[in-house]
Amino acid sequence: MAKRTTSFTCQNCGTSYGKWAGQCDSCGEWNTLVEEQNADSVPKGLGKSRGNTIEFVGLDGTSKETPRLISKVKEFDRVCGGGLVPGSAILVGGDPGIGKSTLLLQVVGMLSDSTGCIYVSGEESIDQVRMRARRLGLGDREVSLASATNVRDLITTLEKNTKAGVVVIDSIQTMFVDTLDSAPGTVAQVRTSAQELIRVAKRRGFSLLLVGHVTKEGTIAGPRVLEHMVDTVLYFEGDRGHQFRILRGIKNRFGPTDEIGVFEMTENGLMEVENPSALFLAQRRGNVSGATVFAGIEGSRPVLVEIQALVAPSALGTPRRAVVGWDSARLSMVLAVLEARCGVSFAGKDVYLNVAGGLRVSEPAADLAVAAALISAQNDEPMPSDSVVFGEIGLSGEVRPVGQADLRLKEAQKLGFSRAWTPGWDRKKKPRVDVGMQSNEVEHLGDLIGLFSPSGTSSGQRAGAA
Ligand code: TYD
Ligand code: MG
Repeated sequence: MAKRTTSFTCQNCGTSYGKWAGQCDSCGEWNTLVEEQNADSVPKGLGKSRGNTIEFVGLDGTSKETPRLISKVKEFDRVCGGGLVPGSAILVGGDPGIGKSTLLLQVVGMLSDSTGCIYVSGEESIDQVRMRARRLGLGDREVSLASATNVRDLITTLEKNTKAGVVVIDSIQTMFVDTLDSAPGTVAQVRTSAQELIRVAKRRGFSLLLVGHVTKEGTIAGPRVLEHMVDTVLYFEGDRGHQFRILRGIKNRFGPTDEIGVFEMTENGLMEVENPSALFLAQRRGNVSGATVFAGIEGSRPVLVEIQALVAPSALGTPRRAVVGWDSARLSMVLAVLEARCGVSFAGKDVYLNVAGGLRVSEPAADLAVAAALISAQNDEPMPSDSVVFGEIGLSGEVRPVGQADLRLKEAQKLGFSRAWTPGWDRKKKPRVDVGMQSNEVEHLGDLIGLFSPSGTSSGQRAGAA
């Protein structure tokens, strides 16, 4: 029987089929099957020849620790876990036009002081990259620039180059291996190209930065395969309507994954934002109903953001619930708790929730701030503008303590807030706040409602509370 040398691989989930089909059986996506050369067109099994014996070592041995490369773009270094690890592979994903090329050009521009830097562009011409470098004020930096897409040429070049400390490949979807028939950007090409480049990076000890585009569904094109192959996955995200850009660690073998780096896209490239809270709150208007300030934590840093809610009568049979920057399931939960435990009804009303500034909040600690914004919007009664809110809400309406309260309160105080609505604390765990910061403990969601009712009666509202 003739050996099959190609198969049809779903570009969304990576499942292979022997036959083409319009829809992938595994993930249900349409038109994602692409014919690709098969890995099993090579002879099956290992054959008879013996391999070498592997030497085992103990965990307690000493390993040479190579210093990390610090780019001095602090926001970038922090997300990488304190600089680039030599020999590691980092994938930087993000929507087209979000600023990945700009960020990496700036990073290599800064790194060129301390190590050899190579920037390979498969998307832009040399002139375009040069023009951008000049605009970023990096025109005189020693960065080796090339416009190339053939992985074989790249590997040969990189093997010979002994000075390279950092290599940027922009983007992995434009690279191709000439032994494969499929087009650049397909799963097989992306996977093989990345594999080969990562191998040479490990061998030669340079840090490899791969740019990856993100598909409509929000994952890096060429499914998750790339994420498994690299040491670190960073996403560069942000709303194109806003100038903020957030670099978020998704996976990191050499550092924490919950760090974010905040940048601002300006005419002269990306500027680091050292105090994100001040930036996110810059456009805040005091005394507006439906707006609260959430004291959150992103990675190791406190970040204050404004949460905005709008409750409006609905003309639809099923009212709308629209969320930007937060989990919609979490909003439904908070709405349900407000209705069932506190007697606040949102029936027949559209509810809109927005995290101002384009940040995505994923902490449950934002629950209380969301609830406060919703009640404030519902009652058309503004929160005191000098207050911050945080706390997780349970299904019975209880407000639960959250981590790092000290840090949150300190940041709020630094930015001029003088009141905080927090969960109730055990005496031992009570956060220490300096004088000048008034901390109000909210044990049950019902207590919060009292805040907004003119008469200040909270106990009567506590429907369903035991
Ligand atoms: P780019 O880095 O090309 O995005 P990506 O590589 O992720 O596709 O960024 C392009 C966008 O950034 C483009 O819309 C213009 C904007 N930009 C600025 O606003 N200021 C600048 O200094 C630069 C270089 C780009
Ligand atoms: Mg680009």
